[in-house]
Amino acid sequence: MNLFDSHCHLEDERFLGGVDEALAAMEAAGVRRCILAGSEMESSEAIVALTKKYPQVYGVVGVHPHEAKAFEDGNLKRMAEWLSLDKIVGVGEIGLDYFYDLSPRETQKAVLVKQLLFAKEQGVPAVFHVRDAHGDMLDVLRAHRSELPDGVLHCYSGSVESAKQYLDMGFYLSFAGPVTFKNAAKLAEAAIYCPLDRLLVETDSPYLAPVPMRGKRNEPAFVRLVAEKIAELRGMDLEELARIATENTCRLYRISQEKEYDTNA
Ligand code: NI
Repeated sequence: MNLFDSHCHLEDERFLGGVDEALAAMEAAGVRRCILAGSEMESSEAIVALTKKYPQVYGVVGVHPHEAKAFEDGNLKRMAEWLSLDKIVGVGEIGLDYFYDLSPRETQKAVLVKQLLFAKEQGVPAVFHVRDAHGDMLDVLRAHRSELPDGVLHCYSGSVESAKQYLDMGFYLSFAGPVTFKNAAKLAEAAIYCPLDRLLVETDSPYLAPVPMRGKRNEPAFVRLVAEKIAELRGMDLEELARIATENTCRLYRISQEKEYDTNA
């Protein structure tokens, strides 16, 4: 098995002192690599340190919509320095979150656009976090249609109709634990609809543990449960789905398919 958890948060305090254990469990579950996603400068810096310590850990750096109000233009300079490292492979997570509204919506949009254009300029993909804001997100993306980086809608939570529009713009969709939940008919539809060559799997751990771990602390090893569910929904072999989702992750982030890791990021 060659699974890749394309989005998780081993830098989160809930993994403090438990990263080695989580990575061992990951290996045992056939999950060979993972990508950690930044929330602001502090977590991004912690991610950079983890990618240097662990060969199977990659990272993306950026400012989450929750933290948009704390964004400063100088952040981009630091992010550019981090992006010069081999294992820092994208900008994220960036986007809009109208469920929590922890930053004013206009600020969220402005910070999203700055980082979106920055990702394009750096030639790296963007990782989008969108919650209860697909209408505005699609508007922002359309307004910048000619200057979009590659990207992925992480922990995709939208409809098939929105999915179609993101896919038309060339983006990937990444599915997480919620696709395994009982009330997830709409999401299951999107996971079946998504073209196989645009589909990624992730945990977003420590959040959103898949069934039957729901309610527990999530961890990268559980991406196998997400992949199993999608394979079942699509009537595919797990091994085959894992292989394709990993290939997609490597293509999007320009990561080598080989299991040879470079520890000196
Ligand atoms: Ni996340």
